Amino acid sequence: MPVIYTVKDLPRLREEAYAMLKKKRVDHVKGCEKEAMKLAMRFGADPDKAAVAAILHDITKSLDLTNQLILCDRYGIICDDIEKNSVSLLHSKTGACRARELFDIEQPVFDAIWWHTTGKPDMSLLEKVIYMADYIEPTRDFDGIGKLRDAARKDLDFAMALGLKMSIDEIISRNLPLHHNTADAFEFYKEYLN
Ligand SMILES: [Fe+2]
Ligand SMILES: [Fe+2]
Repeated sequence: MPVIYTVKDLPRLREEAYAMLKKKRVDHVKGCEKEAMKLAMRFGADPDKAAVAAILHDITKSLDLTNQLILCDRYGIICDDIEKNSVSLLHSKTGACRARELFDIEQPVFDAIWWHTTGKPDMSLLEKVIYMADYIEPTRDFDGIGKLRDAARKDLDFAMALGLKMSIDEIISRNLPLHHNTADAFEFYKEYLN
């Protein structure tokens, strides 16, 4: 029987989620929860849903490609050719399904986990909060992070546009395949760059 988590249960949820992570990822997930709470307060998202989504967003990230594909099969996740070869893309989808199975999360939390890697056009407030918290949480360090954090303090749609652009530039510079969901998300948000 799945457990329904209330705010009171967050310490137990954290404990169970951290046990599913590689040690080095725990600080990232703690940072993501902290940042998600800040963004939720700033922009008016539900802080409880933000906390649950942040705590659970990477619970399958430690699994290799074979195990990601086993979970896709189990949950009926249809993968395209780019996803089939990418743990980075698959863990969002397998993570959302696993979180729903284990913790009976609500649909908006499921969606925020599902879209946290690629983004998509016209995201909900909670989806944007989790996408951005994952990107700028305090342990992250990369060129341009200061600018992205400043943007996220002021305007979430502008921050999405900037974050997606930085992400696409990075994917292209590393010669990785660009997933159409990321490209479509940028097409949607790019007007906020001006
Ligand atoms: Fe992730
Ligand atoms: Fe993450």
